[in-house]
Amino acid sequence: MEHELLRIRDEALAALDACHDDDGLEALRLRFLGRKGELTGVLRGIGELQPEQRRKIGEIANQVKTLVEERMTALRTQWQAEQRARSLAAERIDITIPGNHRPCGSLHPLHQVLDDTIAIFTAMGFEVVRGPDIEDDYHNFAALNIPADHPAREMQDTFFVGPEVVLRTHTSPVQIRTMESRQPPLQIIVPGSVYRVDDDVTHSPMFMQLEGLMVGSDICFAHLKGVLTSFVHAMYGPNTPVRLRPSYFPFTEPSAELDIGCVICGGRKTGCAVCKGSGWMEILGSGMVHPNVFRAVGYDPEKVSGFAFGLGIDRIAMLRYGIDDIRLLYESDLRFLRQF
Ligand code: DAH
Repeated sequence: MEHELLRIRDEALAALDACHDDDGLEALRLRFLGRKGELTGVLRGIGELQPEQRRKIGEIANQVKTLVEERMTALRTQWQAEQRARSLAAERIDITIPGNHRPCGSLHPLHQVLDDTIAIFTAMGFEVVRGPDIEDDYHNFAALNIPADHPAREMQDTFFVGPEVVLRTHTSPVQIRTMESRQPPLQIIVPGSVYRVDDDVTHSPMFMQLEGLMVGSDICFAHLKGVLTSFVHAMYGPNTPVRLRPSYFPFTEPSAELDIGCVICGGRKTGCAVCKGSGWMEILGSGMVHPNVFRAVGYDPEKVSGFAFGLGIDRIAMLRYGIDDIRLLYESDLRFLRQF
């Protein structure tokens, strides 16, 4: 029996050495250790031996069984490790490969300037209001005290959509629409696109304005000056010089244009192309709301007063970034836009 056990041991170990997969291993387990296996058969016969023999043979049988089991476990563990190493090698990720570049868009320079402008005025208590791009003659002209023979009413200057319908030539009609539907006090700004028959380096058929209107019981020119000076100082820096120059608009009286010290030449007046050597740049029109405008919306000019202004967002953007052709802002050329 001892010989038989040693034979089984040698055969099992040799067979295991030649075994290379799980199926083969399972077959060997059944052949030697299964219920009808060779070793199990020997163990079963132990009961019939003398006690002395039984202990000795039993001991050897157990050693053989343990040895074969251990070898099987070792094989399984080895194969698992090899398999793991193979899949790690196959799934290896090279973390030094550069990632996929996803192009990231950004706000158009006009909208950056518009957002900054809106932020400055809303911080002063102004509310953002909008109006239609297609406007009727009444709101665009008549209610704003623009007389019938005013040049802005000419076909050459205004895009007419119908007999009494135009693409708005300025954001001022939203002053009328707002006052028609609300009572004072009012403190609004109106950003939006406006349209004129005009096309050269400083004029685009469509451009962007921001209108402002403040109406109350005792609004005076000092409020206009204070609000607009605060805007300039927030936009261009607290040391930027500001001056108001008398001007004319049909919907304001008195009217003024606001100039700032040239941001390009610093007001040195020496041959600067942007301010044409004057040291000043015009950035907006403004004035005290004309009594006829108040009458048109049903406000009593004896009881309310207010100021208004209109500034060109394009012009502010061109001055800020040193852009010399307004058309660049509307051509959607990525080579230009990527610079912002
Ligand atoms: N609407 C004028 C324009 O387009 C700009 C303007 C001037 C607006 C004076 C105003 C103002 O509100 O008071 O040229």
